[in-house]
Amino acid sequence: MNRVAGKVVLITGAARGQGRSHAVHLADECADIIAFDLCEDIASNGYPLATEADLAETGRLVEKAGRRVVTAKVDVRDRAALRRELDAAVATLGRLDVVVANAGIAPLGNDVPVEGFVDAFDVDFVGVINTIHSALPHLDAGASIIATGSVAGLVPQTGLNGQQALQGPGGDGYGLAKKMLWTYTNSLALTLGPKSIRVNAIHPTNCNTDMLQSPPMFRTFRPDLENPTAEDAKVTFPFMQAMPTPWVEPEDISHAVVFLSSDESRFVTGQQLRVDAGAGLKLGV
Ligand SMILES: NC(=O)c1ccc[n+]([C@@H]2O[C@H](COP(=O)([O-])OP(=O)(O)OC[C@H]3O[C@@H](n4cnc5c(N)ncnc54)[C@H](O)[C@@H]3O)[C@@H](O)[C@H]2O)c1
Repeated sequence: MNRVAGKVVLITGAARGQGRSHAVHLADECADIIAFDLCEDIASNGYPLATEADLAETGRLVEKAGRRVVTAKVDVRDRAALRRELDAAVATLGRLDVVVANAGIAPLGNDVPVEGFVDAFDVDFVGVINTIHSALPHLDAGASIIATGSVAGLVPQTGLNGQQALQGPGGDGYGLAKKMLWTYTNSLALTLGPKSIRVNAIHPTNCNTDMLQSPPMFRTFRPDLENPTAEDAKVTFPFMQAMPTPWVEPEDISHAVVFLSSDESRFVTGQQLRVDAGAGLKLGV
């Protein structure tokens, strides 16, 4: 309790998965939450995204923890909408201390059109930039910025016997976005260091959310099968990690988010923190 008491945290992609978990864990540690999500599907992305009901449930869970919450349906690709909704939320909650740029899609698959590249890059990189840059005018000394990368995104796109690590145009866009987050967060950390504002990235391995438990991801992990199931993919999911697990849980990422949000990490900046059960070691990233 109280590890982030008095702080207000913006989380994108907060309707479900890791984003909802971050909202609940931060609320349990006494932060108020601004929860944004698209709450619509994206055509190139071969699995459903969150709904308005999902976002409302995140809001309910934060209130159940006794904290204040502002929810809004916002597309991170739309910087004007982000600014408008964030300004309104900060006016309601009084301040902004932490940004968790978490929203993401993974439109994987060799059958995905070129739009998959555009959508993945726009959500997974431009969306992070839009989120952080919209928040900057509200942040003061002591603030913390956290971007969600991906250990799988850090792997070179080619090189596995000429095969793509993440399949198709959407896989290319995803990988490029996550790799660029590395250099972006390091540069921003240097820029904001003199203002005592911290910037870090967290790179999860397979995480047990709807993004992982989706047919495009099953096909990525079982390219040998035509229509692989969750059970089929669970056989190969563990190959990513050095530790014997098919995935980490959202709460495993949330613990890192709470630490980086709190003053416990007041001199931690410019870090690329892998929460990956040793996947990065195995993949050489
Ligand atoms: N699940 C994994 O295995 C895994 C691994 C590494 C990294 N990640 C990253 O973790 C982050 C969270 O993903 P997750 O695992 O919780 O998956 P998820 O699909 O459960 O959650 C992603 C959330 O982002 C929202 N979203 C998508 N596009 C949006 C947009 N344009 N604007 C606003 N919201 C949008 C979705 O509606 C959804 O609620 C992503 O950045 C993802 O790339 C996931």
